[in-house]
Amino acid sequence: MFEQDISEILIGEDELKDKVKELGRIITRDYAGKEPVLIGVLKGAIMFISDLIRYIDLPITIDFMAISSYGASTRSSGVVKIIKDLDHSIQDKDVIIIEDIIDSGLTLSYLRKNLMERGPRSIKICTLLDKPERRMTDVKVDYVGFTIPDKFVVGYGLDYAEKYRNLPYIGVLKPEIYND
Ligand code: XMP
Ligand code: MG
Repeated sequence: MFEQDISEILIGEDELKDKVKELGRIITRDYAGKEPVLIGVLKGAIMFISDLIRYIDLPITIDFMAISSYGASTRSSGVVKIIKDLDHSIQDKDVIIIEDIIDSGLTLSYLRKNLMERGPRSIKICTLLDKPERRMTDVKVDYVGFTIPDKFVVGYGLDYAEKYRNLPYIGVLKPEIYND
């Protein structure tokens, strides 16, 4: 359906599944005896968080935040706005932020600071994808699935103008699809 818009499959379904399983195992080990709250950043992290929690063998809870980022452009404005806040308090909780991708890092550094002010016991960041070449701010990332080159990717929850989220793999979007 979208195949003609994708120039290359960067990470296939099997590779995604293996990595998500591995991250689940690592988080299970690191948080043994704890009850972490996983905070999914909407909407890009939907597939990642829903697959990841199947492989976390701990009494976790989940919550979601929606923040504005790109609109229909492919670059971060640096202006971050909370569109949907958490349903529950994170005071004294061990929080893991679940993100689809870190690009400039502006979204996550804002989010970490904002959540820090709510008195959690700890905050860690888990991202499926990392584009370190584009980093504009120093943000510590604790768990990374894949480090990827500076290409605009879609699928497995990631979108361009709200499309392509339902692709089961991570693909590179043909540059002619977006006018940057
Ligand atoms: P920053 O720059 O604040 O951006 O780290 C993080 C958010 O930007 C979006 N983003 C992408 N979305 N393909 C996408 O579909 C990409 O290649 C891409 N790079 C950044 C994404 O929403 C992420 O949460
Ligand atoms: Mg996102």
